[in-house]
Amino acid sequence: MILADTGYEKTKRAFDRSMKRLQLDYLDLYLIHQPYGDVFGSWRAMEELYREGRIKAIGVSNFHPDRVMDFIVHNEVVPAVDQIETHPFHQQVETQQFLTENNIQIESWGPFAEGKNNIFGNDVLVSIAEKHGKTVAQVILRWMTQRDIIVIPKSVRKDRMAENFEIFNFELAQEDMNAISQLDNGTSLFFDHRDPAMVKLLSEAKRNT
Ligand SMILES: NC(=O)c1ccc[n+]([C@@H]2O[C@H](COP(=O)([O-])OP(=O)(O)OC[C@H]3O[C@@H](n4cnc5c(N)ncnc54)[C@H](OP(=O)(O)O)[C@@H]3O)[C@@H](O)[C@H]2O)c1
Repeated sequence: MILADTGYEKTKRAFDRSMKRLQLDYLDLYLIHQPYGDVFGSWRAMEELYREGRIKAIGVSNFHPDRVMDFIVHNEVVPAVDQIETHPFHQQVETQQFLTENNIQIESWGPFAEGKNNIFGNDVLVSIAEKHGKTVAQVILRWMTQRDIIVIPKSVRKDRMAENFEIFNFELAQEDMNAISQLDNGTSLFFDHRDPAMVKLLSEAKRNT
């Protein structure tokens, strides 16, 4: 559910519109894209749809722990998922711990950092991939899966989609996990959702849609 659709009524309308397009009776998961606008109104609509069984789980995206806690204490249903930027250069260790303590599943967006920082040519990842006879993409997805992070890699190529599923027939050793943990820069490769300038920019973009 995007920023232009925040608020109770708009969320209900956006949901109906999506269901018509998808030609489905229910959704497995529905998320609020960003923590801006009338997200409490949206959540009330989503809680209703959840209770009616039209959505099996509801969650959020790009919510930092402070916003997540605000949501937990001021709503009835706790988000099932928080989908946030997570990849080898931004590992989200503390945020994952916070979410786990609050029974919220972390889900990675941008697991390959959308190709930034030459991720597929990274020396550490390449050497681990060679050791296991796997690709760098598979090592990244396996690393996150072993950390109990849900991954949703994106590819337009069928062969890569198949490759991205082939991660359940090998295991990374603790030394591999430790080596990858050293790649963390602890910061976004895109933008910070708490940056006031970005909040303004995104909200102005919403008004023009
Ligand atoms: N909640 C949010 O704010 C948010 C923000 C961004 C993205 N997302 C979601 O996150 C998901 C992940 O997508 P993403 O675009 O962010 O980034 P991503 O999965 O990190 O990277 C996608 C890029 O990796 C390439 N790729 C995929 N599999 C590969 C492989 N096995 N080997 C080499 N290259 C490979 C793709 O190219 P090809 O397509 O050419 O294979 C594409 O250029 C999407 O569902 C997206 O909608 C959510």
